[in-house]
Amino acid sequence: MFVLSAIVALFAASASAVPALNTRQTGASCAGLSSGSTDTPAYNFTLTALNTTLPNTNATGAPLVLGWGPAGSSPASSDWVISTYAEWHSNEWPYFSLQSGALYPIPGPDEEGLGAYDYDIASGAAIGFYVLPAESGRDNPEIYCAASRNGNTLLAVNNDADSFSLCQAVPNPYPNNILVWQAKADNSDVYDFSTCYGVQVFLFPYDD
Ligand SMILES: *[C@@H]1O[C@H](CO)[C@@H](O)[C@H](O)[C@H]1NC(C)=O
Ligand SMILES: *[C@@H]1O[C@H](CO)[C@@H](O)[C@H](O)[C@H]1NC(C)=O
Ligand SMILES: *[C@@H]1O[C@H](CO)[C@@H](O)[C@H](O)[C@H]1NC(C)=O
Repeated sequence: MFVLSAIVALFAASASAVPALNTRQTGASCAGLSSGSTDTPAYNFTLTALNTTLPNTNATGAPLVLGWGPAGSSPASSDWVISTYAEWHSNEWPYFSLQSGALYPIPGPDEEGLGAYDYDIASGAAIGFYVLPAESGRDNPEIYCAASRNGNTLLAVNNDADSFSLCQAVPNPYPNNILVWQAKADNSDVYDFSTCYGVQVFLFPYDD
């Protein structure tokens, strides 16, 4: 902690370094997105994906859920990623909540006592969460925004609502179709880039 604060203080002292930091102040995750965008919508929601280039068979989009992600990078938690319901076939985290730019999948009855917490998403990464025993007071990355556009609400990550794709994951151990930000060819241990197609991700208020 001390080391981290010292590093942050060091960077903050140098004005030119500040824009490169992932700043955490309220609203930063919506910077650059249109007015009406919010990092804390007053409702919980579900997510769907609509194709940007391929034909859509579902006018409201393909429902998205949490499914297993790439094989564990952390011994203490499992990685889950946003997936299509059509390919994952189950929905243990029935809706999402966005608070100050931190995105929280909310556990259903089978996942009681667990929490899903977001982490920083690099270019080319799947939209993932650590699932671990629920912990209050965690400091989660504030990188998501409910972006307002043409009367709809789109999910944005890293101030960008226009660079999501759905990609076929490398089976682990089940096949899955996962949401990726700025999909690229060099993540072939996680997904097959040749299968990726562009989508926008829509929020729909959920009545819990
Ligand atoms: C959103 O979900 C959380 C977790 O279930 C709940 O505590 C909160 O009251 C919900 N918010 C709304 C506006 O329904
Ligand atoms: C988007 O295109 C893919 C590939 O053709 C298709 O599987 C998917 O159902 C489409 N999504 C919607 C919402 O229709
Ligand atoms: C189409 O969207 C509705 C509402 O989100 C959903 O219930 C249904 O399962 C979707 N159908 C397909 C084929 O994805």
